[in-house]
Amino acid sequence: RPWLLPKYQQLPIIIHKRTGSTNDDAKALAVAGAVHGTMVLAEEQTAGKGRLGRSFYSPKNSGIYLSVVLRPELLFTDAVLITTAAAVAVCRAVEEMTDQTPEIKWVNDVFVDGRKVCGILCEAVSGFESGRVECVVVGIGINVSASEFPEEIRSVAGSLFEENPGFSRNRLAAVVANHLFTLSETMTDRSFLDEYRRRSMILGKPIRFLEKGEWHDAVAVAVDDSGGLVVETAAGRRTLSSGEVSVRAV
Ligand code: BTN
Repeated sequence: RPWLLPKYQQLPIIIHKRTGSTNDDAKALAVAGAVHGTMVLAEEQTAGKGRLGRSFYSPKNSGIYLSVVLRPELLFTDAVLITTAAAVAVCRAVEEMTDQTPEIKWVNDVFVDGRKVCGILCEAVSGFESGRVECVVVGIGINVSASEFPEEIRSVAGSLFEENPGFSRNRLAAVVANHLFTLSETMTDRSFLDEYRRRSMILGKPIRFLEKGEWHDAVAVAVDDSGGLVVETAAGRRTLSSGEVSVRAV
């Protein structure tokens, strides 16, 4: 099982003061053969990337910008498990290190007090030909402190703390990574999906989803074993898969 972390081997951890995107850095390392568990962190990103082509605001002194190289040997159809497992890893870490109660907005945004504090961007690096995900980069951005955010961003983005100078971002990054490694070893048994569902902020609630430029009303009824969101719309029940839509609690 090559995706198990080597027990007594040091993991490469690359830390940049400033970089464009840690996901791009990690992808380049992965292509060059970086081992499972390799991590890239940055104090600041100048071109942080979000899902669906959006950018991710990544100023210094404010957050954790972390990308992890995983070599999970998953079936391509199971790739979404990585994304959902990463959201659960962040929730566990936030719960462990703060007195906040994080919630997940499908598929992989983490919210605290109704505001997004973490975004996750998974990018497949190789394996397309084989129908497997051989290598993936999991990019995790957590807003730790928004005190230096401009007002227009502060009105939409949450953070774990307004002010907490004693809080260790290094430790939070390590705890997130540890949970991610633990989950990635067992994720194909799907047992963590129950925790994912328990942490969901939208299950059982009315939502809207954006598809091909249009908003649709629905109720989120379930997360299936492939990580798909089962919704009830006026036209009937259907399952949304990650990537094609964006969901908003109403
Ligand atoms: C989203 O909310 O749409 C996903 C945001 C993902 C941001 C992280 S920060 C570390 C890594 N590097 C990037 O460029 N993006 C991810």
